[in-house]
Amino acid sequence: MDSDGPSHHGVIIRPATVTDCQGIHRLIQELAAFQGYPDGPELTVETLRRDGFPVEGDNSDRQTSTAQVFQANVVEETATGKLVGYAIFFPFYSTWKGKGIYLEDIYVQSDYRKAGVGKRLFASVCRFALEWGGSAVRLSVLKKNVQAKAFYERLGFENSTVEDGWETGRFGEETLRKIVESVVV
Ligand SMILES: CC(C)(COP(=O)(O)OP(=O)(O)OC[C@H]1O[C@@H](n2cnc3c(N)ncnc32)[C@H](O)[C@@H]1OP(=O)(O)O)[C@@H](O)C(=O)NCCC(=O)NCCS
Repeated sequence: MDSDGPSHHGVIIRPATVTDCQGIHRLIQELAAFQGYPDGPELTVETLRRDGFPVEGDNSDRQTSTAQVFQANVVEETATGKLVGYAIFFPFYSTWKGKGIYLEDIYVQSDYRKAGVGKRLFASVCRFALEWGGSAVRLSVLKKNVQAKAFYERLGFENSTVEDGWETGRFGEETLRKIVESVVV
């Protein structure tokens, strides 16, 4: 983390705190709009607070567990204290390689792009992954997001769709319910 070092391009990169949630929430909305899905995000600031910055408590109940679900690093403009970028990430586990980090979002506001800020933000996630004993950073990028693809490729991204033929997807909440309801446990 370079929050103690000299500031380049008028920004610092640092781990997020609970008071950043409002700003991160605003940037999540901006990223969704940029990707063409302005109505996508359903998270509230309160959910972000709960899942990223839990107060210690009883973790025995899955529904009310206060375990930390994600980590975030933010880009803060030094002159104003305004957040101009963020990265949200969390652990995954590979049965071949062990611990790794999944990068859910990385975003730098357009006025701050192409000046090395995105690379510094990405490096902060890579540093966290390595220091934590992780062996990879995984992510998904939309096919149509040519800017982000160019950014990742510049940094050495191995495209597992192209190179290994991986197809990724999800089971949505409704489907989960149907599956669970269709079997007797
Ligand atoms: C992707 C993003 C974070 C990159 O941030 P940035 O601050 O512009 O990136 P940097 O200036 O640090 O660039 C790092 C390297 O990538 C290259 N790069 C960045 N954007 C590029 C682009 N659009 N085309 C080609 N190369 C690009 C830079 O030239 C630089 O290469 P260098 O190290 O050889 O100089 C930023 O464009 C962004 O927030 N985009 C919108 C959100 C988004 O798409 N996020 C990803 C969702 S999966």
